[in-house]
Amino acid sequence: MAAPGGAPPDPPVLVGDGFTVRPWTPQDAAALFTAVSRSAPYLRRFMPWVDGQRTPDAVRSELGQVAVRWRAGEDFRLAIVGPHGAIVGSTGFHPRGGALGPGVSEIGMWIVPEEAGRGLGRRVAAAMVRWGFDAWGWRRLEIRCQVDNGPSRRIAERLGFRWEGRLRGVIVDGHGTPRDVAVYGRLATDPEGP
Ligand SMILES: CC(C)(COP(=O)(O)OP(=O)(O)OC[C@H]1O[C@@H](n2cnc3c(N)ncnc32)[C@H](O)[C@@H]1OP(=O)(O)O)[C@@H](O)C(=O)NCCC(=O)NCCS
Repeated sequence: MAAPGGAPPDPPVLVGDGFTVRPWTPQDAAALFTAVSRSAPYLRRFMPWVDGQRTPDAVRSELGQVAVRWRAGEDFRLAIVGPHGAIVGSTGFHPRGGALGPGVSEIGMWIVPEEAGRGLGRRVAAAMVRWGFDAWGWRRLEIRCQVDNGPSRRIAERLGFRWEGRLRGVIVDGHGTPRDVAVYGRLATDPEGP
């Protein structure tokens, strides 16, 4: 089912400081496979899905599903492209098919390890939040991350998201261990900073 409220602008492309965010296409399969394979040991701790994308065919099939979910208005996954055209990560708006509430979306993100820790995640997240409220029309955005994911929590707090709670043992990480998740939320009407 399509999510009510929040719709992609035309074109759904965001040009930021040292990066471009744009929809994934089937032609990205080889580059995404390489990026995920290289990043798996580092991503697995916080993103258990990496192990489902360990073959080129699995990634190609996943990108097919990404396009289907985009067209249905259920989920919007976007590539983060560096200044020289390389895939440097992934982000997206995840309204969970409307399950989070009308006009509400989660923002997700990962950055390849070679580019992480240099401020790219914060810049992309800040631009996504602004774009999400102004151009997509989301009413409320959420950042959900494991409670021990320091960089994600720092980004949420710097961008004016409020701590709204802790979901105990709600996910199982890539090593099979149940983990608590922090929920941060920001309304379109909230101030930009902490
Ligand atoms: C989370 C992630 C997207 C952040 O991107 P990044 O480019 O590494 O982030 P930045 O370099 O912008 O750093 C973000 C902030 O975290 C801070 N930080 C870094 N390590 C930290 C730690 N261990 N604890 C607390 N804060 C930390 C940085 O100092 C920075 O804060 P500042 O801007 O106030 O200096 C990236 O690290 C990543 O892909 N991690 C693995 C996948 C993941 O966890 N995705 C999110 C799932 S919810």
